[in-house]
Amino acid sequence: MNWPAEAIWEAIAPDWPEFTVEVLPQVDSTNTELMRRARAGRLEPVLLVAERQSAGRGRLGRDWHSEASSLTFSLGLPLSVCDWSGLSLAVGVSVAQSLHPDLRLKWPNDVWLHDRKLAGILIETASFGPTRYAVMGIGVNIAPRDAGGLATPPAWLGEVLPGIGAPQTLLRLAAPLVGAVKTFEAQGFAPFRAEFNGRDALLGRAVTLSDGTAGVARGVDETGALLVHTSSGMKKITSSEVSVRPANPPGAQTH
Ligand code: BTN
Repeated sequence: MNWPAEAIWEAIAPDWPEFTVEVLPQVDSTNTELMRRARAGRLEPVLLVAERQSAGRGRLGRDWHSEASSLTFSLGLPLSVCDWSGLSLAVGVSVAQSLHPDLRLKWPNDVWLHDRKLAGILIETASFGPTRYAVMGIGVNIAPRDAGGLATPPAWLGEVLPGIGAPQTLLRLAAPLVGAVKTFEAQGFAPFRAEFNGRDALLGRAVTLSDGTAGVARGVDETGALLVHTSSGMKKITSSEVSVRPANPPGAQTH
């Protein structure tokens, strides 16, 4: 594949000359690889793309099965933020904004198209001395893929951007993503809140929390917590371990 590594670097380097872009034909997982490098003392800012992942990982310990039909990459960089809770939402906002107006966000960080999952985000951080290194991994379905036992087949970007490939998708995503992360570092989640709420796939919908509580999703607050109106009042959901699904979804996903 012909990756636009140079063009991405040229868009980011004026602000950040030490930034690098690297493409690997295969790796276990781009997140795992960047964390391995960080543990070995390599804490530099990097965008790592893999044409294939043999052990891609998703949230909550799940696998992320990547095929030739998807874009898989991670952005790794030292990051200093006070409140990490909204970072995955800010990353989701950036991904959706860069790709298409029809994309929606399912709290905390899935990107949906027409109520089906189009992209997933896995954020991991670790401290090395005074430095906190953050790895933001993103997987985007580009072409139709095997439903893999899911009730609803995943969405794919070609549905709304016919003919787009993984390299062009990366070119659209990369520089705005770096910009969004820098904005988050300086200002937190607040600048992303309105856009998140404008794209909130759950807004006004009946949801069931993983503890069985039922309610109606009412958007996110200024920290990125999900507001759910329940029979015992408004609840603020902050833990990423809480899974939220529409109670009567046109196309609920558990991927
Ligand atoms: C999820 O929806 O559960 C998150 C999926 C994240 C997948 C991406 S693909 C690139 C990066 N490397 C990984 O192993 N996972 C993330």
